[in-house]
Amino acid sequence: MKALVLCGGSGTRLRPITHTTAKQLVPVANKPVLYYGLEAIAEAGITDVGIVVGETSREIKQAVEDGNRWGLNVSYIFQDKPLGLAHAVLVSEEYIAGDEFVMYLGDNLIRDGIKACVDQYRENRPNCQILLAHVPEPQRFGVAELEGGKVVRLVEKPDVPPSDLALVGVYMFDGSIMDAVKAIKPSGRGELEITDAIQWLIDQGFTVDPHVIDGWWKDTGRLEDMLEANRIMLEDVEPSSHGHVDSASDVVGRVVVEKGAEVIGSTIRGPAVIGEGTKIINSFIGPYTAIYYGVTISGSEIEHSIILENSTVTDIPGRIEDSLIGQNVEVARSPLKPAAFRLMLGDNSRVGLL
Ligand code: TTP
Repeated sequence: MKALVLCGGSGTRLRPITHTTAKQLVPVANKPVLYYGLEAIAEAGITDVGIVVGETSREIKQAVEDGNRWGLNVSYIFQDKPLGLAHAVLVSEEYIAGDEFVMYLGDNLIRDGIKACVDQYRENRPNCQILLAHVPEPQRFGVAELEGGKVVRLVEKPDVPPSDLALVGVYMFDGSIMDAVKAIKPSGRGELEITDAIQWLIDQGFTVDPHVIDGWWKDTGRLEDMLEANRIMLEDVEPSSHGHVDSASDVVGRVVVEKGAEVIGSTIRGPAVIGEGTKIINSFIGPYTAIYYGVTISGSEIEHSIILENSTVTDIPGRIEDSLIGQNVEVARSPLKPAAFRLMLGDNSRVGLL
């Protein structure tokens, strides 16, 4: 059995971060989202992994390399345009070569992994098996209707949902899916939809089994979901300190201070992670904050946020909350007169001022 991990896409909902980086590489609790998925695949006993890449192929390849770190054998499949999840399957035909495979959306996080799901598939060998979870607002998701323990219908974002079972970003297929992705036509938004391909399988009489999970999962495609994923993953961190915390600082709760990090005259209230070589000076870092490597925070307060590498935050008078700050960003109080906001923001940036 192989795995196909989807890391193409356009990531419009996470702009401007996705102008310069792949959304699958945004760190959650200081670890790229994609790494959780690769760990889950390795844990399920799968070693051959094809990663579908698009515009951000360079960054993904740099981050994952040959997958040896996870005991995986990774190949890359180029999708020249993000024409849909079923299109990603279509361009992977040669790699899949008729084998059974699990398709994993590279921006999804499934807390309990996928081993139980893969084991069920290996035991029952349906043509397709989809991962489902009960959700409070099924209108926002692809929803499955079950009958006699089988999936009988899939509907995208239904006004009147037939159930509260949403599709989670993990699917298992045998060779029949290639016929399905070739048979379907692009949807109204111009994409080859995987839900249409699975519906085609159902209509042709192939078996589609559900696997319902109880554990937590998240599609990290939007800012609020990314922050929530970060919050939940931080809750599980084991406190440790490999950096330097001076005697004037106060570190409370689940806090990880990574190698070479310095905490000077500051309070860190966990759960939080302070990345490698990051400096926190005369600042307050509140719960659910993950600060990546090479960052400098001074004279500021930050809570429930993710700060990416090599950024600086200096002397900000109000508390920064619910924020995702990109790489090499400078946020600073300006001493210049007249007192004014001076901004240089990338396209599609979002700023909330007091
Ligand atoms: P989505 O989040 O559904 O799509 P997107 O990445 O285009 O994001 P947005 O809606 O914000 O513009 O994609 C789910 C995953 O599948 C994600 O990891 C990207 C990947 N993907 C591909 O690899 N190829 C594709 O053609 C599409 C649409 C997505």
